Amino acid sequence: MNSILNEIENELVKAFKAAGYDEKYAFIKWSDRPDLCQFQCNGALAAAKEYKKAPFMIADEVVEKLSLVAAFKTVEMVKPGFINITLSDEYLLSHALKMCKDEKLGVNADENEKIIIDYGGANVAKPLHVGHLRSAVIGESIKRIKKYAGNDVTGDVHLGDWGLQIGLIITELKARKPELVYFDESFEGEYPEEAPFTMSDLEEIYPYANGYSKEHPEYKEQAQKATAELQSKKRGYLAIWKHIIEVSVADLKKIYDKLNVSFELWKKESDAQEYIPDMVEYMKSEGYAHIDQGALVVDVSEETDKKEIPPCMILKSDGATLYNTTDLATIVERRKLFDPDRIMYVVDKRQSLYFEQVFRCARKTKIIGDNVELDFLGFGTMNGKDGKPFKTRDGGVLRLEQLIKEVTDKVTEKMSDRGMDEETLKDAADKIALAAIKYGDLSNQASKDYVFDIDRFTSFEGNTGPYILYTIVRIKSLLRKAAAENVLPSDEEFKNFGSKEETDLLLSAAKWTDTFASASKENAPYKICQFIYELSENYNVFYHEHKILNNDNEEEKKAWINLSKFILKLLNTGIDLLGISAPEQM
Ligand code: ARG
Repeated sequence: MNSILNEIENELVKAFKAAGYDEKYAFIKWSDRPDLCQFQCNGALAAAKEYKKAPFMIADEVVEKLSLVAAFKTVEMVKPGFINITLSDEYLLSHALKMCKDEKLGVNADENEKIIIDYGGANVAKPLHVGHLRSAVIGESIKRIKKYAGNDVTGDVHLGDWGLQIGLIITELKARKPELVYFDESFEGEYPEEAPFTMSDLEEIYPYANGYSKEHPEYKEQAQKATAELQSKKRGYLAIWKHIIEVSVADLKKIYDKLNVSFELWKKESDAQEYIPDMVEYMKSEGYAHIDQGALVVDVSEETDKKEIPPCMILKSDGATLYNTTDLATIVERRKLFDPDRIMYVVDKRQSLYFEQVFRCARKTKIIGDNVELDFLGFGTMNGKDGKPFKTRDGGVLRLEQLIKEVTDKVTEKMSDRGMDEETLKDAADKIALAAIKYGDLSNQASKDYVFDIDRFTSFEGNTGPYILYTIVRIKSLLRKAAAENVLPSDEEFKNFGSKEETDLLLSAAKWTDTFASASKENAPYKICQFIYELSENYNVFYHEHKILNNDNEEEKKAWINLSKFILKLLNTGIDLLGISAPEQM
């Protein structure tokens, strides 16, 4: 459906033309001075030059035509030549009714691409840390937004399962338990089904082996050798690797589940390996790749580069593959399996140069068609209050589960006086904690760094997740009471009585169509946050200023219950796009 700006602009176009001016000057925006008017058109100022006429004269002529439009309460020329517009109460209501009737509340789901979105990016065997939090939270939201916009979207977790971490674990396992059958070179039977370690074993083994390898070069060499042997499919090592994946993936699923993050695809770096040999052959035979100091590379620098972009390395001098090689092979794989129009990567922005190399290489070598878009959505760092990357009090990297627990504990403590039974309290605290974490992240422009401030994020007031949930819970409870009293207004009983608070609320609701469109176009969940925050604020002001349930005027009561229902729908849609859900009580 048309957005409110489109509708007004259509009227402006007619008026500019009728007054003899080019329609290109008929542009409209939300007012910079909401105290004076709701919308403003500065087109007369722009047209003055072409028509060699004072802007106020042009504006006057246009205003004359506009004053006939029923949708407008007031249309005014303000010197030097602004056109200020305020909508009628009836029009605002009719726009809200149109949104209500629309399945998508006025959003035009007219994007139509097949998209793969690469996010999450956890590494098996290594605990998921806060560095992966942003990818999961932002990626999930962008995926939901892109789906809502009408696209066919597949989220791929793209697990890191093919690197040195596996070689380190194998090496350490061999040192501790050399008797395990996996290390018996002469063994030809079936390997055991059950893993010789649990997730908590892995959580201890990996950091230990990683630390040890840093101090002991010969140990690191062993781990590198084990990694290479795994990659060339040594039976016993493959069996260990499979165990590692089983154990870690089960654990990762639990954590992503807790975060309300889910993936259509659980692909791994190892899945792309089978595409490497042909890809390398092709790059060589087509003359794209050449040997440089023993390594196989593709030059990706361009004349217009301001800084040097190093070549993209495909194979190391010992023939080993790299992170690059896997990402390129994954592009080949995705193209073969899904034939997407667009691939989006939600990754730490510190990897931007790396992705620039990969994308250029993919384009240059034509492993990806020109019709396929590759988007790098780099996000900034989550910092602590000291402005440095977020750490625990003792300076270590805080584990994600621990972070969620700390926030949940804090929320539970705040709610301890609410007299809720244990189950209700737990459900509410889980949802509020998640809202605090996710909203705290998503309300910032993703590319920027932000400060993780647990006190601010968990506050029930201000621009926070809990505040939005609080507003939702308030409306839900109002509607429950209304239903209990059997006050169930029909859709026709939605009216607008024109108070300032109703008008502000209806106006901020009317921003939804355009807000959503730009959030999707710019991959910007923060725009959804801004919208639901403004809507919540306006609802709460309205709620304080109007008697709803204990109103003797039946017409007002019913109209405002309908208005509350409408706002609830918008808020619920907004939080769902952020990957947040609301409790029944809080
Ligand atoms: N596993 C990587 C890491 O932990 C992130 C993967 C990002 N996606 C990709 N296609 N490279 O940094």
